[in-house]
Amino acid sequence: MIDLRSFEVPTVVKHGLGAIANLADEARKLGMTRPMIVTDQGLVRAGIVDEATNVLKADGLDYVLLDSVIANPPISLVDGAADIYREERCDGLIGLGGGSSMDTAKSIGVVAVHGGSIRDYEWDDPNPLVKPIPPMIAVPTTAGTGSEVTLWAVITDPDRHIKYNVGGTALIGPKVALIDPLLTLGLPAHVTAGTGMDALAHAVECYTCAYAQPWPDAVALMAMEYVSDYLRIAYAQGHNQEARYKMSMAAMLGGMAYGTESAGAAHAMSQTAGGVRDNVPHGPLTAWLLGPVMEYNYMGEPEKFARIAKALGKETRGLSVWQAAELAVEGVYELIRDLEIPSLQQLGFDESEIPLLAKLAAADPQTIGNPRDIDEAGYVKVYQRAFDLGK
Ligand SMILES: [Fe+2]
Repeated sequence: MIDLRSFEVPTVVKHGLGAIANLADEARKLGMTRPMIVTDQGLVRAGIVDEATNVLKADGLDYVLLDSVIANPPISLVDGAADIYREERCDGLIGLGGGSSMDTAKSIGVVAVHGGSIRDYEWDDPNPLVKPIPPMIAVPTTAGTGSEVTLWAVITDPDRHIKYNVGGTALIGPKVALIDPLLTLGLPAHVTAGTGMDALAHAVECYTCAYAQPWPDAVALMAMEYVSDYLRIAYAQGHNQEARYKMSMAAMLGGMAYGTESAGAAHAMSQTAGGVRDNVPHGPLTAWLLGPVMEYNYMGEPEKFARIAKALGKETRGLSVWQAAELAVEGVYELIRDLEIPSLQQLGFDESEIPLLAKLAAADPQTIGNPRDIDEAGYVKVYQRAFDLGK
């Protein structure tokens, strides 16, 4: 027996303008009679939760509404919600929102079937997950995290000041990703920008990481092309349905590129930094770090970075591999500038935190897959560059 490489997508991807209208039908097809809708207050105020619940009510499908998800969901939120899931005898999950809501829904599912606390299910070898989560429909309302198809949930541990990963197995995959690009039409431009760049970061990091393989490489490249072609348009023209549709697909493809593997240094940094300051949104934080990380990394995988440059629309004919690889970095910096991504300083970080941030990033498991060897000293360099760019 040898260790085989594998790539699995357990989630059926269903998409269309107005797809939310099919929510009850999809829930019934999965055998749900009393799903728990997992969402947040922002979506209640935006009327999107009503859109979803009206579909269920019209169908006569009972449900339980949990609308208390917050950004960077902590352990206590998941554990409390899992208690409600069991007490209310729910038999399925609808994760409605951005990554936080979908990851919370997945995590509720993990605790619901395994018992204990989500604290007990941090990814490890062997994986503590042994049972599939209850049937789940993921309905993304942003275009970025790709959590509707990822096999991961990111949970914040306030005691350890970190975010950690649960999953890495098809057992945590939603049964259906119901993608309705119309739900993203009302996103503010800065959210469009941050989340869209997060999708790009997933694609770039998965494409260049040590675990890369052909199938996820293919979807990662398409995600990059969509982001390159449509993110600026979605940012400039929020109502543009084609741009929104393509960004929804980019986010899904970027999430799919993960498979059961991890990202790289940008996510090692943004997830650990997001644990230190859990009020900082993941999208812009990852976006700001992506350029400096690529600048550090490109010499490890020059041909792949050269291919990224092409995907980002750069003319690479007649250039050496090295010149083209550098253009990939330039392409990302241009996006960050055009989309007015806030700097680390603007996000509330201070240069004096570099030693702590670098130490935490070096301890993150996503460091292992990074295309260039990186340790704490390497992270200090990358963080310094990221802060310098914000001056
Ligand atoms: Fe991300």
